[in-house]
Amino acid sequence: MSEPLAELEDLPQAYRDELEQAGVAPLWPMMRNVLPHDAPQPVTQAGYWKYQALRPLLLKAGELTPVEKAERRVLVLSDPGRGTGAMQATASIYLGMQLLLPGESAPAHRHTPSAVRIIVEGAGGYSVVDSERLPMEEGDLVLTPSGEWHDHGHDGDEPVVWLDALDLPVFVQLEGSYAVEGDLQPQRNRPDASEVEYKAAGLAPTRRPGHRARRFPMLRYPWTGTEAALRQMAAFGGDEIAELDYINPETGEDILPTLGFTAMMFGAGQSQRPPLRSSSCAFHVIKGHGRTEVDGQVIEWGPKDTFTAPVFAAISHHAESEAFVIRIHDRPLQDKLGYYEERAR
Ligand SMILES: [Fe+2]
Repeated sequence: MSEPLAELEDLPQAYRDELEQAGVAPLWPMMRNVLPHDAPQPVTQAGYWKYQALRPLLLKAGELTPVEKAERRVLVLSDPGRGTGAMQATASIYLGMQLLLPGESAPAHRHTPSAVRIIVEGAGGYSVVDSERLPMEEGDLVLTPSGEWHDHGHDGDEPVVWLDALDLPVFVQLEGSYAVEGDLQPQRNRPDASEVEYKAAGLAPTRRPGHRARRFPMLRYPWTGTEAALRQMAAFGGDEIAELDYINPETGEDILPTLGFTAMMFGAGQSQRPPLRSSSCAFHVIKGHGRTEVDGQVIEWGPKDTFTAPVFAAISHHAESEAFVIRIHDRPLQDKLGYYEERAR
């Protein structure tokens, strides 16, 4: 083991004053804070948000603040390690629960961070992304990738709620986060690409010379298709739980450059004890009940609940009933930075 390093107080005050005057600081008293031995020391703590507790608060926001005064009517899920008001749920993942009431619309904008919505409840909501109208049905994933125009509308008669997951903290850290406002987009009069070009897995529009697919060809991943695929996989999958990654159907890559999304299905009584992963993550429950231990903290979850885990957390899931959960993680970003890692337990 290496020696403990000298502290700031070990230096004469006059010298410390001179350093401050010169706008510099000695590294050694601070080095272990930024380069701890063997594994990171996350600030992030496991968080848990019960939907039945959030829902009345969100509806109250609908009464108190008109959408015109909020632009996006969202309650932010703040990392307990950073405290309420923190614009992040983990180091890299922002989560917010958004409400849109019947007849409301959220104006068009585009921004540098990317977002995925997971629809939590309600019918009749839709997003328009790059002029494509994307119906928002429970459990659907709807993408608004970096730089793509998007606005939201609501033709139904009950509140629509969705969970926003963004790579916002990364962009804030880079001082690269900003939005541009625009007019509501014209909508192409046709179903979204998941119902047209990418209706079946393994099939894509015929490639012709010079033709380039859109960077994000599929912007909506309907839950009905995901659940059917998970069930079929579980039926023939052996002892392991069924897991499917959301991918770009043209490239096979993760749906966003920074964040990955994995749909998980647990049979009643089924457990999973994944390896320690260098990625931070959030879990959103689509259906079912279960219990997850995150670094010894027990979370009893039910439908529509959301919880998080820091990097290298020891996670153990146990489903009490058949359960469907979506895992949001930052492995795509860590892969690109070349350090994603899994450790056996
Ligand atoms: Fe947005």
